Amino acid sequence: MTKLPGNAGVSLLGDKSLEFYRDPVSFCQQRIEKHRSRMFLCRLMNRPTAFICSVQGMRELLCEKSSLFLKDPTDLMTNMYGDTIVTTNGEEACLLRLSLTSHFTGSCLGSWSDYIASVCERCLKDLSVSGQPESVYTAFKSLGTELVLGLFLNVRAEKQPELFQEISQLCTQHWHGLISAPVNVKVPMWSSGFSIALDARNKLMDIIKDKLENDKEGFVGSLGSLPLPDSSSAAQHLLLFISALIPKALASLLNSFTLALGGNGQEKARRQAAEDPDYLCRVLLEVQRLWPPFIGGRRIADQDSTLMGFHVPKDFGVIYISHAVHRDPEVFQEPDAFLPERWSGRNEGHEHFLCSFGNGPRSCIGAKLTNVFLKMSSLHLFVSGCLHFPPVIRRRAALFPLVTMEMRSTCKYLSTLAKAAR
Ligand code: HEM
Repeated sequence: MTKLPGNAGVSLLGDKSLEFYRDPVSFCQQRIEKHRSRMFLCRLMNRPTAFICSVQGMRELLCEKSSLFLKDPTDLMTNMYGDTIVTTNGEEACLLRLSLTSHFTGSCLGSWSDYIASVCERCLKDLSVSGQPESVYTAFKSLGTELVLGLFLNVRAEKQPELFQEISQLCTQHWHGLISAPVNVKVPMWSSGFSIALDARNKLMDIIKDKLENDKEGFVGSLGSLPLPDSSSAAQHLLLFISALIPKALASLLNSFTLALGGNGQEKARRQAAEDPDYLCRVLLEVQRLWPPFIGGRRIADQDSTLMGFHVPKDFGVIYISHAVHRDPEVFQEPDAFLPERWSGRNEGHEHFLCSFGNGPRSCIGAKLTNVFLKMSSLHLFVSGCLHFPPVIRRRAALFPLVTMEMRSTCKYLSTLAKAAR
């Protein structure tokens, strides 16, 4: 058993959380080069933490040894969303997954396709007709919000615009609490971001509970019949599903798709993706490989163990870094290149080496829904003509709220040109 390269330093002073969240990509790259290893040790959130940047390490952590590395029940997610599937372990997590997964697959998923198509149509057609440059990231985020509020809460922007606006704003305030310092301060004329977020959460919970009691249709109506652990569980899960996190992740992927396929040099790829569903799948795989919306996920070692042959003591944290795992040169040749064709060549059948949606028994339950949504929205983008014109990247910034990374590349479209092309 080999000792992990790197060191965790002393408590507090040796903590590297700020440095990591400021720029996780460079943070990992520098250490991979320094230690010549895709797994290394650092102190994160004041806990000695093993960083995993390889496909083999990610598979061991999330699949083969998933029962030895557990979700952290004290994660900030619990603070903001309450007890949900995300932070539970063991039998409770298995039962929750069994109950909830059935609502994200098969006939449920099929019954959502008309709504997904109508939202894509309405939100995306405006992109190319406004006559003004537009931030596509913002438009994609609104699209994602319409998707989740309509699907999970039966609140549709065109039918209940005021309620829709109110919930969207509350979700944003709630989200900002997740990424602010957890200090609950309220004085006359001023409240801390965290305290605003807690107020927003309470208001959201009131709306959700009212919906659960009175709305018997769709997803919210069917949650009542699920065997969930306690009476607040359905409301807490709804709060999670409508959280701003999901529209942001969807927008991030659509944005990366736009940047990858937009502009003059990509006509051939666009035509092929619009005509051949298999090629579109490869493009979408390559987009999520290169620009995963989230940093990855964290676990805690439940007992002494090993990963990639390195010793990982009990209570150590372990974090997998999707961006780095997806660039593991052992699996992905020319790792930084955008090559959709790799998925029909050397990497055919290697989808399980990706972790944008996690992997193994705790992978994302919304991955299939996201896939359907991405395919539909990208086809609408082709039809709208927006992608003909080079996106002007105004800002490429990364926001690092704890365990998530939103690769925000906000770009503007010269939609006047797009309009002219139609
Ligand atoms: C672009 C969209 C999305 C991305 C990139 C994404 C990503 C992820 C990732 C990386 C994980 C695993 C975290 C870990 O290993 O700790 C995860 C888990 C999860 N996701 Fe998603 N997700 C997306 C959309 C959704 C949607 C639409 C839903 C449902 C409404 C959803 C619900 C969940 C839940 C409940 C889990 C926890 C599963 C468990 O712990 O057993 N996600 N997601």
